[in-house]
Amino acid sequence: MFSRRKFLAKSALGSMSFALTSSCEGKNNNEPQNNGEFKPKVIATWGPNLKATEAAWKIIAEGGKAIDAVEQGVQIPEGDEQDQSVGYGGRPDRDGNVTLDACIMDENGNCGSVCYLQHIKHPIAVARKVMDETPHVILAGEGALQFALSRGFKKENLLTEKSKAEWNEWMKEKKYQPIINVENHDTIGMLALDKNGDMSGACTTSGLAFKIQGRVGDSPIIGAGLFIDNEIGGATATGMGEAVLKTLGSFLVVELMRQGRSPQEACEEAVMRIVKKQKYQDFQIGYLAMNKKGETGSYCIHPGFNYAQHQSGKGEIFESKSYITNNK
Ligand code: GLY
Repeated sequence: MFSRRKFLAKSALGSMSFALTSSCEGKNNNEPQNNGEFKPKVIATWGPNLKATEAAWKIIAEGGKAIDAVEQGVQIPEGDEQDQSVGYGGRPDRDGNVTLDACIMDENGNCGSVCYLQHIKHPIAVARKVMDETPHVILAGEGALQFALSRGFKKENLLTEKSKAEWNEWMKEKKYQPIINVENHDTIGMLALDKNGDMSGACTTSGLAFKIQGRVGDSPIIGAGLFIDNEIGGATATGMGEAVLKTLGSFLVVELMRQGRSPQEACEEAVMRIVKKQKYQDFQIGYLAMNKKGETGSYCIHPGFNYAQHQSGKGEIFESKSYITNNK
């Protein structure tokens, strides 16, 4: 099993300033500063995505828009073949197909999504084009692929030797068993607040490893894997997509914040809705949220979920509180 601490010790984060923080509630106190600008901030599910938050941070720090920051940021794990749960190098379904889900949402409530997309390394960029260049929200499967090709995306083989070898190993027993905190990261969900005080988000994944062909998870579904309301804030989800879909988790978190809950309280309530009704012992869910003040919160079922943050040029990894604690 991948060790997060080992990752931090070994990762080539270069001169990037970062710290591991055990608190789970971040404060930004986001009021416009003297020059009328807001303090930009970006967060993403899973600590190893610190490079992704750094890429997004650079865009908003230079005055770029949150929507461009999240689109560029999540492309880091999408293009990283070592990340076997997002984009290129993702683990395939049980028939050996790498199928990708992604969505993006901007400060005006515009959104775009692709699901069951094959052969395209950066599904988030296709989702952005669905948002910007079509009257639709979701394109699926072959239609999504044809749309991507029509917009100049290149058809590629996304199944790496490493993921193929794991699939061949899995084929020996064909036992379907979700792994909690698989390699300590799965889906990347990212939320960014720019200098205008506008929020956008993106979410992208290769979904559950060895899923039944055709399975689509929460990540490309607006309101499940991601939701943004620029008056309130945003939320994103990671883990077992079916549980998030059944509760429309990210929409729920944002609506709870609208009712006055802090991002932390909202994430905790959304996890409790799952714990109360579903057999949560065998799967992980992690929620991550940020309100318009730049306050953040996260909560998960099992210990081990964490998130990456960039603010004021500093990268940090925050451990999430969990429903099940190590002492239970
Ligand atoms: N949360 C990713 C998935 O279930 O596909």
